[in-house]
Amino acid sequence: MPLSKLQGVKLPASADFHVHLRDGDMMDLVTPTIREGGVNTVFVMPNLVPPVTTVDRALDYKKRLQAIEPNVNFLMSLYLHETITPETIIEAKKRGITGVKSYPAGVTTNSSAGVVDYAAFYPVFAEMERQDMILNLHGEVPSQGDVTVLSAEERFLPTLKQLHEKFPKLRIILEHCTTAAAVEAVKECGPTVAGTSKSVPTLNFPLVPRSYLTTLDVVTAHHLSIIIDSWAGDPFCFCKPVAKTPADRDALLRAAASGNPKFFFGSDSAPHPAASKRGGEKIAAGVFTQPYTTQLVVDAFEQACQNGVLKEEDITPKIIEGFMSTFGRAFYGLESEQKEFITLEKKDEKVVNILKSDKVDVVPFRRDQQTWSVTWSA
Ligand code: NCD
Ligand code: ZN
Repeated sequence: MPLSKLQGVKLPASADFHVHLRDGDMMDLVTPTIREGGVNTVFVMPNLVPPVTTVDRALDYKKRLQAIEPNVNFLMSLYLHETITPETIIEAKKRGITGVKSYPAGVTTNSSAGVVDYAAFYPVFAEMERQDMILNLHGEVPSQGDVTVLSAEERFLPTLKQLHEKFPKLRIILEHCTTAAAVEAVKECGPTVAGTSKSVPTLNFPLVPRSYLTTLDVVTAHHLSIIIDSWAGDPFCFCKPVAKTPADRDALLRAAASGNPKFFFGSDSAPHPAASKRGGEKIAAGVFTQPYTTQLVVDAFEQACQNGVLKEEDITPKIIEGFMSTFGRAFYGLESEQKEFITLEKKDEKVVNILKSDKVDVVPFRRDQQTWSVTWSA
């Protein structure tokens, strides 16, 4: 076991800044598994059917989630939509909504009501900048002309830069990035906040100044291990953006293990009923990781050490803590002192084959394979 030094290590609870918890039966099934992944804080995506486009609906959704799992802090988002105005943003800020998620129209699950023209939302972005609301970008352009799922993220990066230049104080997150090019783009963006000339401190937490962190990246668990061939042969590895080349995956691993607070964790756990992943009309995009989020990241780091992509001595508890907990919490302005802790252990645990209730089922990523274990510490 290459990462034996992590055996028995106690860490602050993880935070997951990109989750799909759905509604109804699927919500009932997956929400109780958040804490199994060592997570006590989640940023909840708004791509329900219909999408969450009003503050009232976001807060009702939050109540339903809290009723299922009162021991998780649910941070809520709105779905960027033509009905959202600067006034919506002011109301959202007042009533405790955390961010606004932008889906390019048609690129992923439940995105048909998404954005066609970013310029149309400039007044909304300007208000978000004033209100210090976070913009969460699904960073892909639609597949058309010579754009394919393989180039869709890279082709979005000029838009990211444009938005960043036009709204330099707007705090933007490039969600679930999958390419070395995106990692570089994020490193190049900011910090450009007026009056700050210092560089972003690394491993200086818990005092990561929020204002320095202008554009960040959420890195998922599955993109730290899968590549094109994985989803080409297995629908349960298919998600948007699709996993790319080994070099891209390795760039993500290095970013996640770098201690740079611009990169933090968001699983993009996206449950779909098993049947909708197995075919029929169109295979649903989304990889389900919720019950094993922390475990899968440690698995991926371990694998990367075995392959020589990362060095064992670089995967310290502090590095994992920064990526899985501290950097994201600092960016989202949450409490820096964690009161809850988890312990990592390598036992003989295996990912379950399927999760089901009497209404719905979902197949988890890396089903039936060995994984690390997480327990809550006293
Ligand atoms: C997500 C889903 O299923 O809601 N799917 C995915 O492939 N990641 C939507 C998204 O985040 O793109
Ligand atoms: Zn997502």
